[in-house]
Amino acid sequence: VIDIRTLYGKTGAFTFDPGFMSTAACKSSITYIDGDKGELMYRGYPIEQLAVNCDYLETCYLLKHGELPSKAQYDDFTKTVREHTMVHEQLTRLYQGFRRDAHPMAILVGMVGSLSAYYQDSLDISNPEHRTIAAMRLIAKMPTITAMAYKYTIGEPFMYPRNDLDYSSNFLHMMFATPCEKYEPNPVLARALDRILILHADHEQNASTSTVRLSGSSGANPFACIAAGIACLWGPAHGGANEACLVMLDDIMKQGGVEKIGEFIAQVKDKNSSVKLMGFGHRVYKNYDPRAKLMRETCHEVLNELGLQDDPMFKLAMALEKIALEDEYFVSRKLYPNVDFYSGIVQKAMGIPVSLFTGIFAMARTIGWIAQWNEMIGDPEQKIGRPRQLYTGAPRRDVKPMAFR
Ligand code: ACO
Repeated sequence: VIDIRTLYGKTGAFTFDPGFMSTAACKSSITYIDGDKGELMYRGYPIEQLAVNCDYLETCYLLKHGELPSKAQYDDFTKTVREHTMVHEQLTRLYQGFRRDAHPMAILVGMVGSLSAYYQDSLDISNPEHRTIAAMRLIAKMPTITAMAYKYTIGEPFMYPRNDLDYSSNFLHMMFATPCEKYEPNPVLARALDRILILHADHEQNASTSTVRLSGSSGANPFACIAAGIACLWGPAHGGANEACLVMLDDIMKQGGVEKIGEFIAQVKDKNSSVKLMGFGHRVYKNYDPRAKLMRETCHEVLNELGLQDDPMFKLAMALEKIALEDEYFVSRKLYPNVDFYSGIVQKAMGIPVSLFTGIFAMARTIGWIAQWNEMIGDPEQKIGRPRQLYTGAPRRDVKPMAFR
């Protein structure tokens, strides 16, 4: 039951809608979700078709410009991205200020926020050229900044981007190559990463996107807005769920694996426990998350490629999914696996550390945030975001001097 009350105050009527369960804060033509049917479309194209026929940069172009690119438009877009993959050399030294054991998301929030200090020639949001260059810089530099956060935490030298590689292969290179060994990214893994990026590229007005829009509504620059989005994404109920999901699977494995599923599910169902089946449930999808289906397929491909078909964690995930899809608790609450249920297994198999999962989500979602931010800036109806509140504090009272308190 949604608690929406219409309130009449001195300033007129407004609705009380905690969690924005029923409030549309904007008009948008970017992404459409039908949560009951389990459908997701970017600019009218079903995610299933985009995942099979397009690469991530094509998807970025689509989200940003509204149409799929022609070959010439794609080549031009890709060329611009490649021109911006490096970061300002001074920025590489900023990493040294972080503790080596810092969470990569903490580093990402700081590094992306700092871009507004390095790229001051793209901060004027009233200038379309500045907006375009800021967007291209963000798309191009996010993989570099994310891979550098990883390299920093493991004490390896930063790897410069390789512009002869596609977007995802270049990211794998920056993550796993070292200056002393030859490294060629595995095309199956690069394609799997590309699919993760496509599936996470946008998801209409989720918490982090709404954060980006709210930050941008005050006129803040795009680097600052995306940094705000990254901070919001970090939470375990949002982008942090893939990390939390893998931690959960790992815990069940340590306790005995598939045999312990019954006990774990009983804990989840216990009203007095706060344990949740991570990677299950979604605010909007009340059906199977279409991205989870595609991710499950990719999971098979990656595990086959790496000879990990019998990976016990994947088997555990499949067994959990089967039980949850049949169990009355989950069925009655329409709790289905979401994309994060399988993306963590794929990333782990690829050698990506758990702590970087949300960083890769941020890298993927950057284009969605940019497209939504751009749409908001161009919307003549847009106002500064300013939610109202239901005040529950003390009524008017007078301050007593400290001696009388
Ligand atoms: N495990 C067990 N029970 C759950 C779960 C879960 N994962 N999710 C919801 N429920 C239960 C709630 O306890 C509640 O039960 P009740 O009616 O008996 O009180 C009921 O289902 C409804 O749940 P809400 O919390 O009201 O659903 P809401 O839409 O607010 O939350 C959310 C959605 C935050 C995603 C939630 O399902 C959750 O925490 N899931 C686990 C975390 C997760 O996987 N997040 C990823 C989201 S996808 C993404 O960000 C890419």
